[in-house]
Amino acid sequence: MLNLRRRPVVTAADLNRGLDALGLDGSQHVIVHASLRSFGQLEGGAKTVVNSLFERTATLAAPSFTYATLLSRPSSPIRTTFHRDTRVSRDIGRVPQEMVERAEARRSFHPTLSFVAMGAAAELVTRSQSLDSPYRPIGALYDLDGYALLMGVDFGSNTTIHYGEHLAGVPLLTRWVPLDGQVAPTAFPNCSADFATLEPYVRGQSEQVGPATLRLYRVRDLVDATMTLLSHDPEALLCKVRGCRCQQVRDRLRQEGLRPRPHRGLEESLRPAGD
Ligand SMILES: CC(C)(COP(=O)(O)OP(=O)(O)OC[C@H]1O[C@@H](n2cnc3c(N)ncnc32)[C@H](O)[C@@H]1OP(=O)(O)O)[C@@H](O)C(=O)NCCC(=O)NCCS
Ligand SMILES: [Zn+2]
Repeated sequence: MLNLRRRPVVTAADLNRGLDALGLDGSQHVIVHASLRSFGQLEGGAKTVVNSLFERTATLAAPSFTYATLLSRPSSPIRTTFHRDTRVSRDIGRVPQEMVERAEARRSFHPTLSFVAMGAAAELVTRSQSLDSPYRPIGALYDLDGYALLMGVDFGSNTTIHYGEHLAGVPLLTRWVPLDGQVAPTAFPNCSADFATLEPYVRGQSEQVGPATLRLYRVRDLVDATMTLLSHDPEALLCKVRGCRCQQVRDRLRQEGLRPRPHRGLEESLRPAGD
């Protein structure tokens, strides 16, 4: 019997049409943030998303964060260490996990804030990261004039904005990660809960695929809009939740102000230290 309450299945062909309509033609370098559930029922799940996207991009990247490795103090007990195949945190999602499971994918070294990438610039994107500049892979996409694709998720998942904050000079906090048998400090940003504040200041393209809204933005537009917004209102993207680390960032901002950091070009950031 026909079940009228069952939602129609979104097919790979539907997704391909949506990606084509966004203008993805295989030449773009794209970072994706996705929710499978936003499609209702997507035929083939994460595999379909990665296959369709990779056919239509030169480089496909995604955050593949692993929060269980993060230490709030250098003396905090180490729960788990990071390796190439460590499972992506659930709140980062199945799509980057599917990418990590592909042998050809590159994964950056950061124990908590790793990025995964496939395709032409995968090596460049993943190699550009450092403990001081964990969001530098976005800087590589900035240099490549890449795009950020939101699939059924909001600006709270739009990691590119963190790189705009970095360049604008928002103070970074310190957290610790287990790395090469030691505990190393890493820069760590405020949260992204209030990133929707940026939405009115940046223009993107939007396509509907079944119940999911897909939005595509130029990385440069996001980063530049973030820097402009913060130069007028440095606290604009910090949330107001009392216990959130955003309040530490706010205190530091009030003491120190913004201290803009230069965007280092690809050549410069890949040169070995001391060169
Ligand atoms: C948090 C987030 C991953 C949750 O979205 P989600 O759709 O629930 O999760 P996933 O994309 O991992 O998909 C898995 C879920 O999809 C559903 N699902 C499984 N197969 C599916 C299919 N074929 N079609 C549709 N949904 C499916 C399941 O309910 C599954 O949840 P479960 O494992 O609890 O059963 C998403 O909202 C998000 O924010 N993604 C971007 C993350 C990011 O890049 N953040 C940047 C950090 S700054
Ligand atoms: Zn916050």
